[in-house]
Amino acid sequence: MQINGKTKTCGLIGCPVEHTLSPIIHNTLAERMGHNLVYLPFHVERDDVEAAVKGANALSIAGMNVTVPHKSAVIPFLKEIDPLAEKIGAVNTLVPVPGGYKGYNTDMTGLQRAMETEGITIEGREAILLGAGGASRAVAFMLVYKGAKRVYLLNRSLQKAQAVADEVNKAMECEKVAAMPLEGYKELPKQKYLCIQGTSVGLYPNSRDVVIDDRSFYELVDVAVDLIYKPAKTRFMELCEEAGAKAYNGLKMLLYQGIIAYELWNDVHVEDALADEIYELMKEETKVEE
Ligand code: ATR
Repeated sequence: MQINGKTKTCGLIGCPVEHTLSPIIHNTLAERMGHNLVYLPFHVERDDVEAAVKGANALSIAGMNVTVPHKSAVIPFLKEIDPLAEKIGAVNTLVPVPGGYKGYNTDMTGLQRAMETEGITIEGREAILLGAGGASRAVAFMLVYKGAKRVYLLNRSLQKAQAVADEVNKAMECEKVAAMPLEGYKELPKQKYLCIQGTSVGLYPNSRDVVIDDRSFYELVDVAVDLIYKPAKTRFMELCEEAGAKAYNGLKMLLYQGIIAYELWNDVHVEDALADEIYELMKEETKVEE
């Protein structure tokens, strides 16, 4: 691509940003779609978030992603915020609007689109969600928002699970999220659930770790998504598959959070064939010796 006076700049702010896959997603999209656009990582320290957002606006940056630890910290500096992102309280995509940026959470719309492409239904389903950290909290909102019938939120610390469940139920004006300790699955009605693994347990290089090691737990699962994508097949996914469930990792969520951001910035639709091509590049990039 020829960088010239009309090149649009997009980028990512976070700390750290050195291992991000986002430049591969966006620069490949720009190249394949023939857009004059570059995407760059920007290392931004905690105290500099306001300056970064204002500076990006001053520099007419055409779109920003936001990653850890700034996803909530950027919110006070936005002009507008999408209702789902506001409920979740975390933003990963900034889209230019007059006078600044509008914030979105494409992590969650990305997870939802990734699940849709795999044929996984959320509406009307009962779900088990493992973990109560920032990622699981967002997933709990998304599951309720997308019509899950019930969400059993299992976490090592029951207190933390309860806090997230209370918060989601209050914000969504429902009583769909139930907090439980990890062993709580033993009390659940014996049926099949959609299960989302939202903790960092099992993340490379601790690839053999798993939150629940009891095979009887996996009998409750018919379809599962682990938000982890490195390794490509976590121990959690193996246990799901051994129990006869379908299991997916989080790489498609990462892909689609990027694609949806790119679509918002450029007012385009990314076709499935191009999404598949980028997915293959990301798989190569995240491959580890297992
Ligand atoms: P993030 O914000 O990225 O989602 P986090 O806030 O660090 O991550 O949360 C990590 C999640 O993994 C929490 O649900 C944590 O459980 P606690 O709330 O009880 O701490 C869970 N977690 C981390 N290590 C764990 C372990 N060894 N066993 C079970 N759960 C674990």
